[in-house]
Amino acid sequence: MAFLELKNVHKSCGSRGTRTEVLRDIDLQIERSEFVAIVGCSGAGKTTLISMIAGLARPDSGVITLNDLEIAKPGPDRGIVFQNYSLLPWMSVYENIHLAVDQVFPN
Ligand SMILES: Nc1ncnc2c1ncn2[C@@H]1O[C@H](COP(=O)(O)OP(=O)(O)OP(=O)(O)O)[C@@H](O)[C@H]1O
Ligand SMILES: [Mg+2]
Repeated sequence: MAFLELKNVHKSCGSRGTRTEVLRDIDLQIERSEFVAIVGCSGAGKTTLISMIAGLARPDSGVITLNDLEIAKPGPDRGIVFQNYSLLPWMSVYENIHLAVDQVFPN
């Protein structure tokens, strides 16, 4: 089994009635230390795919595993650089960083 593996991953977005299929039947295997770039036009689903690997979104069906364990939530074993600013402007730099660290290491 590959280090990171996506099997038959499907994902749709939007609310009922206006649901759009974003990713269909995605199979991907990435080995440890392998460097992979995912390229596609705007709206192709790159961020959707990365968000699921990061554990920020769940596939509608299919499975994503990292080191043989299903990805169910974000974790310190995965990092993500957001495409857009994801800072809370009413908080200080320290508070923004503290908020994220608190989520991963509450104690
Ligand atoms: N929360 C959402 N609700 C409805 N549609 C969404 C949502 N998130 C993404 N989409 C749609 O899913 C599709 C894929 O979006 P995504 O952001 O993954 O594309 P992308 O490849 O990262 O694009 P870009 O290169 O512009 O960053 C787009 O059509 C987008 O409009
Ligand atoms: Mg994107």
